[in-house]
Amino acid sequence: MNNVIFEVRGLTKHFPVTAGLFKNVVGYARALEDVDFTIDKGEVLGVVGESGSGKSTMARVAIRLIEPTAGSIKFLGNDLRALSYEGLLKMRTEIQMVFQDPFASLNPRKTIEDALGEPLRYHGLVHSKEDEVERVGGMLEQIGLPRESMWRYPHQFSGGQQQRICIGRALIVNPKLIICDEVVSALDVSVQAQILNLLLELKQRLELSYLFISHDLSVIRYVSDKVMVLYLGKVMESGSVEEIFTNPKHPYTQALLASTPKVHPGDKRSHMRLHGEIPSNLHPPSGCPFRTRCPYAQPICAETPPRKVIADRKTGKLNHRYDCIL
Ligand SMILES: Nc1ncnc2c1ncn2[C@@H]1O[C@H](COP(=O)(O)OP(=O)(O)OP(=O)(O)O)[C@@H](O)[C@H]1O
Ligand SMILES: [Mg+2]
Repeated sequence: MNNVIFEVRGLTKHFPVTAGLFKNVVGYARALEDVDFTIDKGEVLGVVGESGSGKSTMARVAIRLIEPTAGSIKFLGNDLRALSYEGLLKMRTEIQMVFQDPFASLNPRKTIEDALGEPLRYHGLVHSKEDEVERVGGMLEQIGLPRESMWRYPHQFSGGQQQRICIGRALIVNPKLIICDEVVSALDVSVQAQILNLLLELKQRLELSYLFISHDLSVIRYVSDKVMVLYLGKVMESGSVEEIFTNPKHPYTQALLASTPKVHPGDKRSHMRLHGEIPSNLHPPSGCPFRTRCPYAQPICAETPPRKVIADRKTGKLNHRYDCIL
């Protein structure tokens, strides 16, 4: 049985960079380059990488909030790139996003009932106020808040509770896929764990899939089934969560792990710590973009990007993976 719900191939985004009075295009910011991934029903794909590596852009391009430059996107068998604006809007109930800053995502002048009821009204999913209040109340219970809290305003909740509300607003239209972009980065560590556990519990209960973006490796390790490591818009390595954390093959993944004391406390690979700045994506290094910071770089790395291996679909869950060519 084919369980893939989201399938992305060759996803690429080049932002034109303009200059001067006439806004002539003087170059392209290569934010995303030939990215492949799939997400199965009930699966969590973790996406990790330094700031500016293209994680948020990838998520937005994959659901056409930003138009891709190239690539194919299939969601539940539908070609997302072929859909009209109306078709896309309909599909958006199936894919929802949750962001880093919950307070900024909520309108301070709207009650929680109004905030959670809005997507229901917008998509015509409720037919009366009673119906709406019932649905909102039910969702609040699912996210661990009392029903009565629907009559309160966002500022009357803590950061963790506000993030629960944002998760509830995403879930209320019964999506199949949730894109979580740094959803716990702004929260206290103790609250982070509660939110991550809530997300995992909801995933189980509602059979959801997640595209889970975080720069925090310990968070990625905790929630993900498989992991994709991005650098300058390219996938450096992908694999199951065990493969990536216990036997990382790409020097960039090794360097990311070595730079995170929480993940590998006694790690002796200090030479693998990340040094220097990420190069500009206006003129990214040819071949493997990490080669300018990689202690193992060879001349061939300037010619060949990280290897993309398409494995037999029948043999494993992961039908394609990336790793270092060396
Ligand atoms: N509209 C745009 N025009 C030009 N460049 C853009 C645009 N949007 C994003 N970029 C570029 O794409 C690159 C990737 O940015 P993105 O925000 O996706 O990274 P990120 O991995 O999410 O980083 P962070 O961890 O800081 O959230 C950056 O270099 C950014 O400048
Ligand atoms: Mg981002």
